[in-house]
Amino acid sequence: MADKTPTPHIGAKRGEIASTVIMAGDPLRAKMMAERYLENPVLYNQVRGMLGYTGTYKGKRVSVQGHGMGIPSIGIYTYELYNFYDVDTIIRVGSAGSIHPDLHVGDLVMAMGACTNSTYGAQYHLPGTFAPIADFDLLRAAVQKAEELGYRYKVGNVYSTDTFYDDTPDTALWQKMNVLAIEMEAPALYMNAARAGARALCLCTISDSLITGEETTAEERQNNFTQMMDVALGII
Ligand code: HPA
Repeated sequence: MADKTPTPHIGAKRGEIASTVIMAGDPLRAKMMAERYLENPVLYNQVRGMLGYTGTYKGKRVSVQGHGMGIPSIGIYTYELYNFYDVDTIIRVGSAGSIHPDLHVGDLVMAMGACTNSTYGAQYHLPGTFAPIADFDLLRAAVQKAEELGYRYKVGNVYSTDTFYDDTPDTALWQKMNVLAIEMEAPALYMNAARAGARALCLCTISDSLITGEETTAEERQNNFTQMMDVALGII
C-alpha cells in the first residue's frame, strides 16, 4: 500500500499508531485516557485538536484518539486509520440516550447493530440496505468482560442519528423496533470496518434517558466512563 500519511486530518506517520485504537468523541477524553491508562503515551496528532496518543497498556501497544461528533467526523478518522495506518481494530467508547425502559443512566450498551437516518451507506451503491454490525469476537469478549466485572449491560440495536436536535422526533418509532439507545457514530465506524475487512465495536454508557428524563451527574459520568474503559481495555 502506498504511504498516504500524514493525512489531511491525522498528523502521524504510518507506524506511529497502534493496530488497536480506542476512540471517544471528545479529544480531551482521549487525553484523559492516555494519561490515566497508558504507559509512556506519545502524542501523535494535534490537527484540529483531535488529540491522539500511542502507548502501552499492560505491555500491549494501543492508541487512543478523539473522533468528534457525528457520522461524517468519525467516518473520516476511522477511514484513515483503517486504510492508511494499518489499524485493524477500533473500539468506540461513547455515550448514548436510553429509549428502553430497562436501560438506566450508567448502564452499558453494546451496539450489536446500528440503525441510522444517515445516508453514509449510499456511497456503496448496494441494491438494498446494509446492516452495520459489530465484530462478533469483540462483542463476545466485551460481554464476557462485563459479566466478569459484574457491570450492568445490554446488547442490541442502537439508533444513530444525524440530528441531535430533531424537528420531528422519531424516538417512539425506533422504540417500537426494540432499539435500545440513541447515539451518533456507530454506523460509519461499522461500515468503514466492513469495507476495510477490519474489526469494530461501539460501547456506550447511558448518559441520559429520553424516557424518564434522568441525566448523569459529573461524578456518575466519570465512574461510568471508567467501567466502559475497563471493558474496552480488558478485551484488547
Ligand atoms: N441523542 C443522540 N446522541 C446522544 C444522546 C441523545 O439523546 N445522548 C447521548 N448521546
